[in-house]
Amino acid sequence: MRLRIAVDGPAGSGKSTISKIIAEKLNLIYIDTGAMYRACAYISVKYNKTGKDLIECVENTEIYFKKDVTGQRVFIKFDGETFDITEEIRSVAVTKKVSETSKIKEIRDIITRRQKSIAADNNVIMDGRDIGTVVIPDAEYKFFLEATPYERARRRYEEMVARGENIEFEEVLKDVKKRDFEDMNREIAPLKRAEDALLIDTTNKTIEDVVSFILNRVKGL
Ligand code: DC
Repeated sequence: MRLRIAVDGPAGSGKSTISKIIAEKLNLIYIDTGAMYRACAYISVKYNKTGKDLIECVENTEIYFKKDVTGQRVFIKFDGETFDITEEIRSVAVTKKVSETSKIKEIRDIITRRQKSIAADNNVIMDGRDIGTVVIPDAEYKFFLEATPYERARRRYEEMVARGENIEFEEVLKDVKKRDFEDMNREIAPLKRAEDALLIDTTNKTIEDVVSFILNRVKGL
């Protein structure tokens, strides 16, 4: 049976936490598409690449995921060398860069093509901004997660503090609002709820609440 679940929503709406749990429970491949765009931003920051150079570099870089005891890890491979960039892609510098790199048409074309090909061959749960609208418009299930900007910034802030980053809450909130604006207003594949996606406001819900809501839907309960 074909099972493709699209989960979209803004930064900090709980997409990745929830999608990972659903993937385990339903034995699906989990693809964090934001991590793929973050990998592109990482390449730009780390190797100081922009424009055509960046596009060429992304085209020649394999981005892939692998599970270990710590969870799902993100790797890039180019010039025969492999790097684990799981932690680096969450840095403040990469987070600040990612809206800029992810709005480049050629970058989106490359990444979208790869995502479509994964979804064509596997049962997946993919989270992102344009999964239900562009990447898997014919997904069996589509969800759109939302929460207030304040609540989303609070979640991000706690994650960052737990990772040992030295950051002010106000800065995280400002970044969340700025990324919302950029993600929703970019020309290509903006953050938008697909008409047939089910809206879930996670502001006052626990992770367990949202997981069981989605599981009940998918199991037809
Ligand atoms: O989900 P995230 O915060 O890790 O995503 C990082 C950025 O990548 C986000 O600001 C917008 C971009 N993105 C995108 O343009 N399309 C996707 N499908 C996923 C993420």
